[in-house]
Amino acid sequence: MNQQTQAMYDKMRAKLEKVVPDVELRIKAEIAVEINALKAERNAVILGHNYMEPALFHSIPDFTGDSLDLSRKAAQTDKDVIVFCGVKFMAETAKILNPSKTVLLPSDKAGCSLAASITAEDVRALKARYPGVPVVTYVNTYADVKAESDICCTSSNAAAVVESLHAETVIFLPDEYLAKNVARETGKHIIFPSLTPGSSAQTGEGGDLDYQLIGWRGRCEVHEKFTVKDIETVRAQFPDAVVLAHPECSPEVTAAADFSGSTNAMIRYVRQSSAPHYLVLTECAMGDNIAAANPEKDILRLCMVRCPHMNMITMEDTRDALKFNRYVIDIPEEIRIRAARSVQRMIEIG
Ligand code: 13P
Ligand code: SF4
Repeated sequence: MNQQTQAMYDKMRAKLEKVVPDVELRIKAEIAVEINALKAERNAVILGHNYMEPALFHSIPDFTGDSLDLSRKAAQTDKDVIVFCGVKFMAETAKILNPSKTVLLPSDKAGCSLAASITAEDVRALKARYPGVPVVTYVNTYADVKAESDICCTSSNAAAVVESLHAETVIFLPDEYLAKNVARETGKHIIFPSLTPGSSAQTGEGGDLDYQLIGWRGRCEVHEKFTVKDIETVRAQFPDAVVLAHPECSPEVTAAADFSGSTNAMIRYVRQSSAPHYLVLTECAMGDNIAAANPEKDILRLCMVRCPHMNMITMEDTRDALKFNRYVIDIPEEIRIRAARSVQRMIEIG
């Protein structure tokens, strides 16, 4: 091991000794050194979402955080290249906010079930059916969907964004569960319209006269899998466990949890609490990262549920992204300008 690799290995080991086996740390430390050299050569910044695996998370990113945080960092950077260790909609948001930069996503397979659940055409159809009703879209959507929206939100500001509109009715897309969680938080009712041509039938709770949030049936393929039964089973084994659930979980799960918030909010919650056991209902790698940051606390995670998209981002692919300039995020300018309005409005709210 040369001096640089040794220094990187020592830095990673100090954080990850209890979480990542030594043999892996040695291999990853070498790759991290290569990535950092390429990063300097290309004048790049690396942004790492909280779901990145622990060795990557604790070595190469210049900034880590939740999707709101990282979109701010992307907007502010003066580097030439932004490498987004996250999924495609996040890299797109970086490009939307900072179009003169080269934005790279290390894997072209890092999608998201929520982003895939809705198209720009779907949004146009909803707007035609509910003219004048403001459209809020979760950032977990692609640029053309953002372009059809009035404002975006993330899991950390969804309720604040809805309330900022002071509107009686809001179209909230595309996450069914986030919409239901926001409806509960803001005291609004929700309906799920059927958009079958010629049909005026409503599905879901609420009637045409009663609704204030109009939702969509998109779901996160990870968070939809957590159940109240999972929580009960863990509580039976660890009666003092504090349960944290991301708001993409079902409203039943978030109601049964002790806390629900964005990935950053969950990290903060564990840091500021003194309980000995926590169950973190979100992508398992974030549980690893929380465990590394809180060695005195026991972090329980249900790792049979993983995000296949976030897990596409490896250190090897991140190195190759910088080496071979891939995968470049491009958004047609006409779409980018309209999407930027919705994202900027969200950022102004905070
Ligand atoms: P955060 O905005 O809380 O980081 O969540 C992003 C995400 O994709 C959760 O599944
Ligand atoms: Fe999308 Fe769910 Fe993966 Fe987050 S965890 S990127 S919402 S599929």
